[in-house]
Amino acid sequence: MTTMPNSSFPCLLFCSLLLFIFPSIAQTSFRPKALVLPVSKDPSSLQYLAQLNQRTPLVPVKLTLDLGGQFLWVDCDQGYVSSTYKPDRCRSAQCSLAKASSCGECFSAPKPGCNNNTCGLFPDNTVTRTATSGELAQDVVSIQSTDGSNPSRVVSVPKFLFTCGATFLLEGLASGVKGMAGLGRTRISLPSQFSAAFSFYRKFAICLSSSTRANGVVFFGNGPYILLPNMDVSESLIYTPLILNPVSTASIYSQGDSSAEYFIGVKSIKINEKRVPLNSSLLSINREGFGGTKISTVNPFTVMETTIYNAVINAFVKELPNVPRVASVAPFGACFSSKNIGSTRVGPAVPQIDFVLQSQTVYWRIFGANSMVQVSDDVLCLGFVDGGSNPRTSIVIGGHQLEDNLLQFDLATSRLGFSSSLLFRQTTCANFNFTSNA
Ligand SMILES: *[C@@H]1O[C@H](CO)[C@@H](O)[C@H](O)[C@H]1NC(C)=O
Ligand SMILES: *[C@@H]1O[C@H](CO)[C@@H](O)[C@H](O)[C@H]1NC(C)=O
Ligand SMILES: *[C@@H]1O[C@H](CO)[C@@H](O)[C@H](O)[C@H]1NC(C)=O
Repeated sequence: MTTMPNSSFPCLLFCSLLLFIFPSIAQTSFRPKALVLPVSKDPSSLQYLAQLNQRTPLVPVKLTLDLGGQFLWVDCDQGYVSSTYKPDRCRSAQCSLAKASSCGECFSAPKPGCNNNTCGLFPDNTVTRTATSGELAQDVVSIQSTDGSNPSRVVSVPKFLFTCGATFLLEGLASGVKGMAGLGRTRISLPSQFSAAFSFYRKFAICLSSSTRANGVVFFGNGPYILLPNMDVSESLIYTPLILNPVSTASIYSQGDSSAEYFIGVKSIKINEKRVPLNSSLLSINREGFGGTKISTVNPFTVMETTIYNAVINAFVKELPNVPRVASVAPFGACFSSKNIGSTRVGPAVPQIDFVLQSQTVYWRIFGANSMVQVSDDVLCLGFVDGGSNPRTSIVIGGHQLEDNLLQFDLATSRLGFSSSLLFRQTTCANFNFTSNA
């Protein structure tokens, strides 16, 4: 028989140990204010790729960046080896944070992605629009912190939530990619988990490089976001509300789920300051979740509903009267002889295209570097694509139109800050100094 000691000695010992241990943790543990991730552009798929270190031992995992993606998913079928992998049990706090209400069984030997009594979600390849079910799990993720100017110490999140995808789900993603990094508006997207892990502001920013040879950058946390030569691009942003689409745009979802993607309120389009005639009801989101304008990193070019697309092409051609149009080069519908187009600091000298937002004075202006695509030595095409009639979303602002613009997403206030073309300020998204000063 054992008896509890009735003196206060154990508590004294324990309490004093706590006193000794905690201050030393507080002193040595480093809490970053922001994190940084290099982003490359894959020349063949035109996808934007990032690399996270995950698992124990840590391995680099190449991922396609998905701005509106719900969470991180990786292929667990092939090559997932980790001593710290842990599936999330049904009805756990992690499952409710992830809004994963299903409870799964797996009828083969237990391994990552296959465990009983785990909750699951639907990892979604948003490039091919294919989804499957996969278990929710957690494992170590490590990433570099930043002071805004350079990468500094590596920090890790020991229980980073993600979903297990399958090997077939990688089809259509760039070579070497093992999953997708979702930055969308959920509690378990990368920005949400990093902000929660390090208690920093729920903001992140993307700055995509137009070059396949020089990296762009994603910042998690608040600015400064400093690009060479020593320019804080988190200052002087233009702000517009982010709009919630009440109906999920994922491949598989439950009734009542809202979209994890970022929508903005484009009210009209102007070309050379002239309003393009459009059916404006296409620009708002209806009760079924159709219509509106979203921002996407998985579409390489802006996609527009057919009537909007035709109206924009016609207005643009009309504003370029002295430039000969040449045969179209797919997927584009308006191509021009580049010999007749001058060049400026912000790209080819073509009519500017404005997405007018919450008021006439707030607009996202697109200059030649973001509107035109050089398809051959002497042909430039307007880099917009026809999205057909009755698409889910009327305007999808794609990668080419985002490059060399910094976009900051404030999840707490549901607001987008955008810089417009950084080329005007003589910098680019490839100008973050990735030399570590750790
Ligand atoms: C899950 O439970 C079923 C039925 O009890 C069993 O046949 C199966 O092997 C288990 N799977 C795993 C991964 O443990
Ligand atoms: C405008 O678009 C809406 C939504 O697609 C459609 O119902 C309506 O018929 C269109 N109006 C015109 C004049 O084309
Ligand atoms: C980049 O950062 C490193 C480390 O702080 C510094 O030594 C180097 O001068 C910086 N490069 C430029 C071009 O400023």
